[in-house]
Amino acid sequence: MIEKIDKYIHEINNLNPLTEEDKIQFHQTYLGKSGIVTQLFTEFKTLPNNKKKDAGKSLNVLKKLILSKQNSTNQNKFISEKKTNIDFTLPSNFESVGSEHPLSKVQNKIVNIFERVGFVTSEGPEIEDDWHNFSALNMLKDHPARDMQDTFFITSDLDTLLRTHTSSVQTRYMEENTPPIRIISPGRVYRKEAISARAHCLFHQIEGLYIDKNVTFADLKKMINYFLESLFGKKVKTRFRPSFFPFTEPSAEVDIYWGLKTETDYRITKGTGWLEIMGCGMIDPNVLKNVKIDPNEFSGFAFGLGIERITMLLYQIDDLRLFFENDIRFLKQFKSLS
Ligand code: PHE
Repeated sequence: MIEKIDKYIHEINNLNPLTEEDKIQFHQTYLGKSGIVTQLFTEFKTLPNNKKKDAGKSLNVLKKLILSKQNSTNQNKFISEKKTNIDFTLPSNFESVGSEHPLSKVQNKIVNIFERVGFVTSEGPEIEDDWHNFSALNMLKDHPARDMQDTFFITSDLDTLLRTHTSSVQTRYMEENTPPIRIISPGRVYRKEAISARAHCLFHQIEGLYIDKNVTFADLKKMINYFLESLFGKKVKTRFRPSFFPFTEPSAEVDIYWGLKTETDYRITKGTGWLEIMGCGMIDPNVLKNVKIDPNEFSGFAFGLGIERITMLLYQIDDLRLFFENDIRFLKQFKSLS
């Protein structure tokens, strides 16, 4: 048997299977089900015990040789392909790197500004119930203020809906936490509006909430001014206009002075130079009672703003629909902008 094995070793040493067919043939001849190695192992079992030791050694040498031949032919394959098919001197294809969506960019910017002064982010569900989106916020079923926020209802009992503002997150947070509270809630909101360059049925808001002992309107004003100066620069001119929201009392809208240099400035500021940027106010004591916070002990403020609006101002975008179309030519422009 040992002579037979030596013969195969000699045979294999002189073989060089290069083509695919040669390799299949090689594998079948030596390693296949009824190939030479199998045959030799069957024969090995029949040997008398005193011959087994040497025959076993030779058999292992043969097997190792077959395997190493097979590996080396695979390497040869690589070398031969390299010679014929692949040109390694060609430049590679660079995958193009994506960019952050402009809305995410601005959202992160705003969140960072508030995180610097101790606010934490809190998020909530986009599908809400009446209590968290409306009733707890002082807008009972027949409250006329509900008309300000045309709602997509999901169930016919009008109890489940797509949230119309991120104030719903504040309701949830106030229910589950005790003051001091300092949160910022970014997120997507929905309103039944006709889609145009200025309005969409979905958009993004960021709302803030601050509750502690002795919080006053002066604190609110200071916080909003800090925010607008951080976002638009120290020179920004702001003004607070009295307004109405059912969940805050007193309420205000905040304008920034945008100027009247160009025709666009006239159009977007309706000829006044001032631009409305956000709503805010002191949390109505009824809202605090609804979420079991004692209004005699605690007070607080809330504010909310639309992210699209700010992004349009910062980057001079004049059509809201561009944000949702995901046109790569539009998105690419924000790659290098901070
Ligand atoms: N939730 C209000 C809106 O969607 C914005 C707001 C938030 C106003 C907090 C005042 C205080 O219009």
